[in-house]
Amino acid sequence: MTASFPLNAWYAAAWDVEVKRALLPRTICGKKIVLYRTEAGAPVALADACWHRLVPLSRGHLRGDEVVCAYHGLVFNPQGRCTFMPSQETINPSACVRAYPVAEKHRFLWIWPGDPALADPAKIPDLHWNRDPDWEGDGKLIHARCDYRLVIDNLMDLTHETFVHGSSIGNAAVAEAPFVTTHGDRTATVTRWMIDIEPPPFWRSQLGKPGTVDRWQIIRFEAPATIVIDVGVAPTGTGAPEGDRSQGVNGMVLNTITPETDRTCHYFWAFARNYRRHDQALTTQLCEGVSSIFREDEAILEAQQQAIDENPGRIFYNLNIDSGSMWARRLIDRMIGAEQPVPQAAE
Ligand code: FES
Ligand SMILES: [Fe+2]
Repeated sequence: MTASFPLNAWYAAAWDVEVKRALLPRTICGKKIVLYRTEAGAPVALADACWHRLVPLSRGHLRGDEVVCAYHGLVFNPQGRCTFMPSQETINPSACVRAYPVAEKHRFLWIWPGDPALADPAKIPDLHWNRDPDWEGDGKLIHARCDYRLVIDNLMDLTHETFVHGSSIGNAAVAEAPFVTTHGDRTATVTRWMIDIEPPPFWRSQLGKPGTVDRWQIIRFEAPATIVIDVGVAPTGTGAPEGDRSQGVNGMVLNTITPETDRTCHYFWAFARNYRRHDQALTTQLCEGVSSIFREDEAILEAQQQAIDENPGRIFYNLNIDSGSMWARRLIDRMIGAEQPVPQAAE
């Protein structure tokens, strides 16, 4: 079976505030990892298995910047090298656990599970709206019991809003509006404008003005697992489709999905807005509102995963609405393909 995710990529491992002066175990791309911070606050990611007898290091404790194994007290530094062994003077030079490249950006801690020589921080996905003075918002982490690609399919096609989220953000206009799909080497974009429509309840309340609106959804996928959705509404006739959004309200839905296993994932999301920025009550209300919208997705996706498991080998059929997710999957497959060992010619 081919892999379902590339390893040479930055994946969000945690929200920055989740990682403290404590040992946090988390499985990422099938690898058991322990996360913590040094006394100076630098993030560390080590394989969560002691070199000696494989006991998870996350069961141990921190001593300064180092981890002490809970079983026989071997000590490992942030580089994964063993610095202490009980009852012996010399330390076996091979005694180390794998240390993963980590970086902190856009309020997330990122990890590179693949070849460390390729871990270039410039390649961290762009989620800057999460820490930008012009934007305000917050988000959460969902543990979803489905292949991360099902979450990507879901986000790349917002037609489902009409059917899954009819009480909040979905209405018939979404499923009726045409859209355009474009792509680059690492990105795919789906753009949909709904002109002169009745806004759904959520957007009506955010805008706070009567009348019809022009609504946009611009979904941008960055391989392998990040999707930023530029969403909003503006009163019809105020120029939003031409680029003047000043009379409207604009949100950025930030999503990055980290495979845990082939069938489970860590889904990090945030909603950032550029209006009523100092309204903390609105931030909390939006965070809870988006959470309940995403719970509707989660229920569908977990049921879908279960059905996939029950029907091995069954293929998916593709419709026009799937063009965005088809591109996303193609770009993911390209990254996975580039990591497969090149078969050697027979001698
Ligand atoms: S298993 Fe960790 S010290 Fe023995
Ligand atoms: Fe959804």
